Amino acid sequence: MEYNVLDKNLMMQLSEIVGKDNTISDERMQNYAHDETENLYFMPTLVLKPANTMEISRIMTFCNEHLIPVTPRAAGTGLSGGALPVKGGVLLSIERLNRILDIDERNLQVSVEPGVITEVLQNAVKEKALFYPPDPASKGSCFIGGNIAENSGGPKAVKYGVVKDYVLNLEVVLPNGDIIQTGANVLKNATGYNLTQLMVGSEGTLGIVTKIVLRLIPCPRFDKTMLVPFASAEKACEAVSAIFHAGITPSGLEFMEKDALRLSAEFANDKSLPLNDNIEAHLLIEVDGNDEDVIMRDCEKIAQVLEAFHPAEILLAETATQKEQLWSLRRKVAEAVKARSVYKEEDTVVPRAELAKLLAGVKAIGKEFGFQSICYGHAGDGNLHVNILKNNLSESDWNKTLPLAIQKIFILVKRLGGTISGEHGIGLVQRNYMPIQFSKVELNIMKQIKDVFDPKHILNPGKIFPD
Ligand code: LAC
Ligand code: ZN
Repeated sequence: MEYNVLDKNLMMQLSEIVGKDNTISDERMQNYAHDETENLYFMPTLVLKPANTMEISRIMTFCNEHLIPVTPRAAGTGLSGGALPVKGGVLLSIERLNRILDIDERNLQVSVEPGVITEVLQNAVKEKALFYPPDPASKGSCFIGGNIAENSGGPKAVKYGVVKDYVLNLEVVLPNGDIIQTGANVLKNATGYNLTQLMVGSEGTLGIVTKIVLRLIPCPRFDKTMLVPFASAEKACEAVSAIFHAGITPSGLEFMEKDALRLSAEFANDKSLPLNDNIEAHLLIEVDGNDEDVIMRDCEKIAQVLEAFHPAEILLAETATQKEQLWSLRRKVAEAVKARSVYKEEDTVVPRAELAKLLAGVKAIGKEFGFQSICYGHAGDGNLHVNILKNNLSESDWNKTLPLAIQKIFILVKRLGGTISGEHGIGLVQRNYMPIQFSKVELNIMKQIKDVFDPKHILNPGKIFPD
């Protein structure tokens, strides 16, 4: 696709839509040139910060007419490069659409703009004893709009589901500027195609979400967290399925191999955990509910089930501070790895009971190609984040072997019945692996959907589909 270059005249007309104060065309654009994906960097030509749906609609109408690429951006915490303006053009930041519009306590719903920080939303509904569970590790800074674009998950997904399970209705600006409602504010909807769910996880390639209606649930009153060390990482993975077989659905079931927890503790300068050399992995397990006795019994039952997998001494978090400390260490793993080395993060998912096979396979592939990997993630969902570290590999070895190694990991994932992204999305950095996951026919259906929404391919170009 040949796009038009944004000349001074076009830039001025676009700037008029949002006002000079909400237009950036100087070095401050650097803040919008990257997200949290590796060390990637693409400068936009112009940054626009619209205030509302109408301004976004006018920007899209204009850019569609003039063939100017537009990359929508939420908080820029993404891990697949979805918000990177790879073709230059307009970077459309939704940061000013940051209002919680209505908490509907009668219907257990919340209506919100896309630039609200996820944790701010969670805290606001919690004040009314309500709960919005999806909690990506970046919950303190990511925006709900970005979570919808990527269909984010997080630790609570294992019991409560991911973003898609909470989205009831969306207002969306289409690439040509039209404004649509995708559904209705109802819990059941068998009316036509499900445009709401088509938008969720579409990575800002089909439209720009400007209003969101989410379902809420009552806040569970109690929870307990435990940290379980294992001498064998594979045994830790095998233990995961056994917990569910025993009839318990934890509200968090996370896996961290040795180096994941160690790096995170070092990064946070936290020396309180006994990290023994003979411990290869930990499971971080949370159980929640409204009856403390039931939760305690569930914890005891989990401990019993785990015995067969030879855990070391289980640490039960006694205080709210200790609990938060454990979860904070878990949330910091990605950041800690990033601080350690150039790396590539994969977001593999397999059926839960295949987790041990996936881990063993990843380690074997690492040996074959000579790289270190640090694995951790949402074990209860079969979702393993595989961080491949460059360490001392030469630039040329890294560039040569990395795609081959990733390809091998993804072929293994597919063979185990899994998929190449669970919650980070395809974006820029995984798109060339899409043919491992999908046949030509399957990819073509997706491309045709893109064509219906965005025939000129101006919205978030260069994402999801392989070159
Ligand atoms: C996590 C992010 C990287 O689970 O998805 O920490
Ligand atoms: Zn994750």
